Amino acid sequence: MKLWAGRFQKETDTLVNDFNSSIGFDARLYKQDIQGSMAHAAMLGRQGIIEEHEAEKIINGLKTILSEIEGDGVEFSLDNEDIHMNIEAMLTHRIGDAGKRLHTARSRNDQVAVDTRLYVKEEIPVLIGKVLDLERVLVKKAKAHLDTVMPGYTHLQRAQPTTFAHYMMAYANMFKRDVTRLEDCLERLDECPLGAGALATSTYPVDRFATAQALGFKKPTDNSMDSVSDRDYVIELLSALSILMMHLSRFSEEIILWCSWEFKFVDLDDAYSTGSSIMPQKKNPDVAELVRGKTGRVYGDLVTLLTMMKGLPLAYNKDMQEDKEALFDAVDTVELCLPVFAAMVDTLTVRPKNMAKAAAGGFINATDCADYLVKKGLPFREAYMIVGRLVNLCIKTGDTLDTLTLKDFRAISGLFDEDVYKALELKTCVNGRSVYGGPARESVEKQISNIEGFLAQRS
Ligand code: ARG
Repeated sequence: MKLWAGRFQKETDTLVNDFNSSIGFDARLYKQDIQGSMAHAAMLGRQGIIEEHEAEKIINGLKTILSEIEGDGVEFSLDNEDIHMNIEAMLTHRIGDAGKRLHTARSRNDQVAVDTRLYVKEEIPVLIGKVLDLERVLVKKAKAHLDTVMPGYTHLQRAQPTTFAHYMMAYANMFKRDVTRLEDCLERLDECPLGAGALATSTYPVDRFATAQALGFKKPTDNSMDSVSDRDYVIELLSALSILMMHLSRFSEEIILWCSWEFKFVDLDDAYSTGSSIMPQKKNPDVAELVRGKTGRVYGDLVTLLTMMKGLPLAYNKDMQEDKEALFDAVDTVELCLPVFAAMVDTLTVRPKNMAKAAAGGFINATDCADYLVKKGLPFREAYMIVGRLVNLCIKTGDTLDTLTLKDFRAISGLFDEDVYKALELKTCVNGRSVYGGPARESVEKQISNIEGFLAQRS
């Protein structure tokens, strides 16, 4: 028999029963649900809304249920629709009438809101921890490759020289922003909706400050209607996770390119790649490809939430039950991707020779050549034009700037001297870029120490 059988004259159709039920996926909120109920029951007792001894009975009953779920497990029932009604039914079944008093001054609307917030509050630190692990790998790789020169690209065309360390620290900075986005989200969601009731609180003297505190929230939410209709914190988390996955996906794409024979800048460890069922020579970057692929799922989860919420009038609507699968899927996906991605990066082998070879072609020192002329007094635009002509000449003769003779240089500008060759060396080009944020060793060391400081504040 349904809880609401008093009002109804018919049983719920079995199709509706199945359709309406969320126990299949919200069962994983059992711990948060029990936590919320214990805080609520204790408050009801303290406020004299129910008898103290009944509150105690409820709390003990809930503890038993928690250990049963975590022990041998329990069978949840589809008839009880969701985790909230399942646990309430189990409680009443175990402790009798006291169980029927638990839902005083509460609705499933504030109950599910508090459960979901508690879940997100628990998962964000886990997610942050995994991003920080990846940061540590990037710092380690950067330290090992401060002088590993490679081409930097724009439009995927060789552009200017950089180092593998500078590249790694670019990603480290992206993931640092992801961490702070997650921290922001955690900070904003840290308010407790419990006591908002269905939408308009209740006429009981509930103490929302006490339940907020008992559950570890900074304070109760300020408006009860907003409390039960708000899923911003889920959307914010999924936005932050989408951006994080976008970063992982871009990184994956680079790794996929870098381990192709066309680049061969890196080799993936055998343990982090796979073979082909037909082509004996293949070693495929499946991990990176899957991370890139799974990014689509997380975006999908975000769009699910945004679309589900966009037309909803205040306050709670059943549509909102659809938030959970998307939330869980996004969290699970990111938590799955981060450690395997970090391990893949940690174990990959860098091929500095191939990077240097690629850096030697493609005229990535052309800007430096122009800067050389600028240092000799030429306006940049004129220097730029001259080097353009030199590059054009090289393309015709199959040269690079540093294989041109001094005569070739001088034929185009008398300002060139023997020292141009030193100026065009890739090491000179990289180390000359010692501007804050740049690829020179000392600049990258500063970037590393900034990230290390960021990590130290969080360990
Ligand atoms: N299972 C529901 C959800 O996830 C709980 C809230 C139900 N509230 C209601 N008034 N039907 O959203």
